Amino acid sequence: MEIIDLSEKEEGTYFLCLENWSEEIKEAGPHKENWYRGVKEKGLRVKLARSEDGKICGMIQYLPIEESFVEGKDLYVVYCIWVHGYKQGVGNQQKKGIGKALLAAAEQDVRDLGAKGLAAWGVSVPFFMRASWFRKQGYRKVDNIGMQILLWKPFTSDAVPPVWIRQKKTPPKVPRKVQVSAFRLGWCPAQNLVFERAKRGAAEFGNKVDFQEYDKLKKIISKKARKLKRAIR
Ligand SMILES: CC(C)(COP(=O)(O)OP(=O)(O)OC[C@H]1O[C@@H](n2cnc3c(N)ncnc32)[C@H](O)[C@@H]1OP(=O)(O)O)[C@@H](O)C(=O)NCCC(=O)NCCS
Repeated sequence: MEIIDLSEKEEGTYFLCLENWSEEIKEAGPHKENWYRGVKEKGLRVKLARSEDGKICGMIQYLPIEESFVEGKDLYVVYCIWVHGYKQGVGNQQKKGIGKALLAAAEQDVRDLGAKGLAAWGVSVPFFMRASWFRKQGYRKVDNIGMQILLWKPFTSDAVPPVWIRQKKTPPKVPRKVQVSAFRLGWCPAQNLVFERAKRGAAEFGNKVDFQEYDKLKKIISKKARKLKRAIR
């Protein structure tokens, strides 16, 4: 197994989170590819694990914290690490050291880029991306919103701990309608799939439902850009 950088050849597999065998994942739509095209120039890094027979069995993606959903500076944030765990396709490749190798490669990469540390998120329950796994890899908890844990590994003594960006507003109430606020994250096909299903489900109820879509990335980036402009002035 070797860790490689994402190349054009592997993009299709990466957009489907290595699940090109799955019909279901196609329901997630083109959101991950669109997100990728938008953030590629903003410093997104992607590393893949390739088995000896040339199959892609793991991935990690991370961005400079200034471009992310976390408040902080001079760090990178792991958006997602995933070692293929289903029996279909390349089969279950978890618990063979691939996750550790991907994270170590990402850490080395961001050190080489001059970052002061790497942050990651995980959940406190045994499901999805687990905070406990990052803790085992030397990450420390710095913040949480409920079961959503923010962890980090500083590389330098002057690194500043990151914090979650907290909810500041709630959508205005729409009388006599069921309101659905749906965030289109882009980077996670599982969440894109839920978004598409919720949208389809809401449409079945016609004008009884007020379905609001939010492009979270654009909102956060524009908010940060405004802040930066104010600081420069
Ligand atoms: C978390 C994940 C990346 C780890 O990769 P992996 O290749 O299975 O793990 P590794 O074999 O490299 O590491 C195993 C080590 O972690 C430990 N470990 C495994 N699960 C753990 C957990 N829940 N808590 C703490 N440690 C754990 C093992 O004991 C082992 O430790 P050791 O090195 O001392 O033996 C992988 O299991 C995965 O992809 N899980 C699903 C994550 C997910 O949902 N991602 C999508 C989110 S957007």
